[in-house]
Amino acid sequence: MSSKINQSPRHVAIIMDGNGRWATQRGKPRLFGHHAGARRVREIVRACPDLGVKYLTIFAFSTENWKRTQTEVAGLMSLFRRYISREAKALLDEGVRVRFIGDRIKLDEKLVRLMDELELMTADNSKVHLTIAINYGGRDEVSRATKRLAREVKAGELDPESVDGETLARHLDTYFLPDPDLVIRTSGEARISNFLLWQSAYAEYEFIDTLWPDFNKKIFADIVGSYSSRNRRFGAVTT
Ligand code: FPP
Repeated sequence: MSSKINQSPRHVAIIMDGNGRWATQRGKPRLFGHHAGARRVREIVRACPDLGVKYLTIFAFSTENWKRTQTEVAGLMSLFRRYISREAKALLDEGVRVRFIGDRIKLDEKLVRLMDELELMTADNSKVHLTIAINYGGRDEVSRATKRLAREVKAGELDPESVDGETLARHLDTYFLPDPDLVIRTSGEARISNFLLWQSAYAEYEFIDTLWPDFNKKIFADIVGSYSSRNRRFGAVTT
């Protein structure tokens, strides 16, 4: 299979990095950067329909982020609660369907309730599919999926010989998503950091120096535009 893309990436995933440095450069606490970052989320979600991006998945909090100071972790959790409460109506009105991936077990009850409500409230929307990763890690996701598969085998509901990539994909948090076509990481680090490990096997990557709070719809549009001129081969030889 070989193809010139010549179309927008259907699914874009973003590692929103650099909030802390952005705040430090301004002599402000790190949470100031996270708040500025949250405002950019709004702008980027709104830009999706015009750019032909149907699915947007953003990395808000990783399974490793618990290692940050208690102040920063609590501040981020509070920011997520506020973001959901404040943005819910606009997201609903703008046709955005919101879903969350990651392990909810470690999240506080109030946040989980808000997440559940937003998912339910926007369930009939389909203009843009926004997926927010909170307490998400690719390895953790694959481990949890494997545990579910093992339980089904133990219960006699699944023949182990029938297990293939499709079976595993159906047990991942992202079972409802197509694989990402394009993964963007801001702030100059060229790492995947445990984000969508299984799903991004054939994704294009774009690492840019811009810190997340400085990312904007113009930069987003430029990256989406350059994506369409690339050649995706999916492991095959170019013809
Ligand atoms: C990475 O920057 C960013 C995060 C760990 C948090 C991402 C969260 C937001 C953008 C806030 C809003 C999100 C939603 C969904 C409302 P960093 O802190 O690692 O930056 P640094 O590398 O400069 O320290």
